[in-house]
Amino acid sequence: MERLGSKDEVRQAVGEARRESKRIALVPTMGALHDGHLSLVRAAHERADYVVVSVFVNPTQFAPGEDFAAYPRDLERDLDLLGAEGADLAFTPTSEAMYGGGADVTVDPGALGAVLEGATRPTHFGGVCTVVTKLLSVVGPDLAFFGEKDYQQLTVIRRMVRDLDLPVKVVGCPTVRECDGLAMSSRNAYLSRDEREAATVLYRALRSAETLALDGERDARVLEEAMCGAVEGESLAALDYVAVVDAATLAPLETLGSAPARALIAARVGSTRLIDNLALAVG
Ligand code: PAF
Repeated sequence: MERLGSKDEVRQAVGEARRESKRIALVPTMGALHDGHLSLVRAAHERADYVVVSVFVNPTQFAPGEDFAAYPRDLERDLDLLGAEGADLAFTPTSEAMYGGGADVTVDPGALGAVLEGATRPTHFGGVCTVVTKLLSVVGPDLAFFGEKDYQQLTVIRRMVRDLDLPVKVVGCPTVRECDGLAMSSRNAYLSRDEREAATVLYRALRSAETLALDGERDARVLEEAMCGAVEGESLAALDYVAVVDAATLAPLETLGSAPARALIAARVGSTRLIDNLALAVG
């Protein structure tokens, strides 16, 4: 696996792969890789001939006071994992390499970026959209892979790609979970032993909504109350929000109908903020 830090070098390497008629995939990450990320790399390999993985902890998607400085970083381990997974190129820019040319013009994530996560983190999706646009511009992939774990991010990026006519296909991949249901996340590393146990409450809450829906409950408020109730029963967890939304538009639903629906949850476990989501099928 090749490792490159400059945009020009990456453009050149990808250009060579393209001249060999290879189909190019990009898997954007912030490092601290886990099996969720590696599942994206595997999915990318199934659909492309040349897989680029970016490892960049993007400062512009963290607000002051968030965990940018503390965000887990272990580049050598990440590179070992990516090499073992057969990635072709790791793009590992510094902040200077990424933003040194100037960062005055940014991408507005629109209304989708202002709700749910955006209500608590108003600058987050602007930072995500801007860095993803830059990565897409540098790599020029045919396909870009994102995890459903960050469901709102995936939805915002799909919308951005559509509205800005970006020539890339966005592929969403299923959340990878620990045996007890906790969604894999680099931030799980912050959890103490007790918090790690308590953190399963997010999945338990989502499952309670899923079960109700499968049993025929259509009222979204009933599902949301069930999720709230599950989190209230966990003393180490503090709920931020639960929502039952249209899976494509993230619009809040009153009733489950024929359109795909999604349950989303955000909660603090100790001082760690975690998010998760699940598709809702109507029984
Ligand atoms: O999901 C992430 O890890 C990040 O938000 C992303 C997409 C790599 C952009 O920095």
